[in-house]
Amino acid sequence: MITIERLTGAQILAAQAELIQLLDDAVTSGASVGFLPPLAPSEAQSYWQGVSADLEAETRALLVAHDAEGIVGTVQLELPSKPNARHRAEVQKLLVHTRARRQGIAQRLMDAIEALAAQEGRRLLVLDTRQGDDAERLYRRRGYIEAGTIPLYARSADGSLHTTIIFYRELGS
Ligand SMILES: CC(C)(COP(=O)(O)OP(=O)(O)OC[C@H]1O[C@@H](n2cnc3c(N)ncnc32)[C@H](O)[C@@H]1OP(=O)(O)O)[C@@H](O)C(=O)NCCC(=O)NCCS
Repeated sequence: MITIERLTGAQILAAQAELIQLLDDAVTSGASVGFLPPLAPSEAQSYWQGVSADLEAETRALLVAHDAEGIVGTVQLELPSKPNARHRAEVQKLLVHTRARRQGIAQRLMDAIEALAAQEGRRLLVLDTRQGDDAERLYRRRGYIEAGTIPLYARSADGSLHTTIIFYRELGS
């Protein structure tokens, strides 16, 4: 049984140990989520502290998925505050723990973050992912449109530079 919950900045700090573990699981398994293995606990801790500050500043929203064992997935929505950008948002850090993948949890998180975006008046969503990753199929299936690719965009754990695909979706389209 999976439940999805929106966390506040304070709740992020309280759940920090589980979130560090979730990020470490993704990075260790080779995901392209900004960090390279080995992920130092201090690096992960300062990352989640930054996320907590953004939530308090209301420039970001974060959802977690829980199963019987605890936090098993997460996704974020960056909320630009510039006057010309308040209709759009960026989906970031969609992570599902390796122990719980291929059960539809990422789909549930995406359903929930898109509903939250619509509620916040953010009807244009953008996101990016490493070309060829599982996430690419997931986003295409959900109706995200490829805006283009950037070669050599980010480094993978094996040292190579990989292509990133930029996607967008207008909610309701
Ligand atoms: C990408 C990621 C979030 C997907 O999470 P997930 O919870 O496994 O995703 P889902 O279960 O919703 O869908 C994954 C696949 O499982 C399938 N699936 C879903 N429910 C299923 C079920 N009950 N039984 C069998 N297969 C199922 C989906 O159809 C999908 O199939 P596909 O391989 O053809 O695309 C996860 O792999 C991950 O955390 N990767 C590392 C981090 C990352 O790359 N994040 C994206 C950054 S942009």
